[in-house]
Amino acid sequence: MEKPQNIYDNPVFFEDYQTMRESKINANELIEIPQIKKMLPNIKGKTILDLGCGAGGMSRFFAENGAKKVVGIDISSNMLKIAKERTLQKNISYLNLPMEDISSLNSKFEFVFSSLAFHYVENFDKLISDISKLLKPNGVLLFSQEHPVGTAMIFNSPNMENHIEINGKRYYLLSDYNNNSQRKLHWSVDDVVKYHRNFSTIINSLINNGLEILQIEESTASEEAIKLVPKYKYQNDRPYFLFVKAIKKSN
Ligand SMILES: C[S@@+](CC[C@H](N)C(=O)[O-])C[C@H]1O[C@@H](n2cnc3c(N)ncnc32)[C@H](O)[C@@H]1O
Repeated sequence: MEKPQNIYDNPVFFEDYQTMRESKINANELIEIPQIKKMLPNIKGKTILDLGCGAGGMSRFFAENGAKKVVGIDISSNMLKIAKERTLQKNISYLNLPMEDISSLNSKFEFVFSSLAFHYVENFDKLISDISKLLKPNGVLLFSQEHPVGTAMIFNSPNMENHIEINGKRYYLLSDYNNNSQRKLHWSVDDVVKYHRNFSTIINSLINNGLEILQIEESTASEEAIKLVPKYKYQNDRPYFLFVKAIKKSN
């Protein structure tokens, strides 16, 4: 196993990412967060683990909406610095810990949440096994990640487009789909590491680790979002995000 990359502590990447997130006109705010909020279980009085919590936006949302206790973990000290500066609630704690090491946590949780962070983890099956052990019986896992149709393709060069146009219609390219492995791409800086897994690998990891799938969604964009960012209409052709909600079986 490779040591996990901590790209959010790269100063150039971090500044570009924060500028994008603070603009509020981005796929997180307009596409991902609205969908994930629709899928939330009851969080009132619950003990929650937020994996790859970043600046802690969802951790604070959980605390504001009645969670008993929230633990946010992230590999990036830059992201956690912002999270701590923005957090006033005493029932949220942040830990600078890679997701790869969550088996070291002593508490159990009723809800494990993760927004757009699992595609950075190499060993997905171990991650899901660790999460399953941290969940109380009937506890819920809800996560979003980049959609496998988006992570699949291995690009020939950093400038290569992910689509072609024929007679004015866009067609997305799909290749390397069943090649579950590391992808290195240019996103603000070179060599950002992500991991592609096909759909069956993701789903079978849940099934094999005692989780029962409750709901799966693939991103779409609302009319309002498309008005603000016209290219979001292509969600219809190739969704950016996959959302999975599962419950830990009680036996
Ligand atoms: C796209 S950001 C999402 C942040 C937050 N969940 C949100 O939606 O605003 C991905 C986050 O995952 C964190 N991350 C990436 N790899 C990680 C790992 N191996 N362990 C823990 N956190 C990780 C990054 O540092 C970053 O804060």
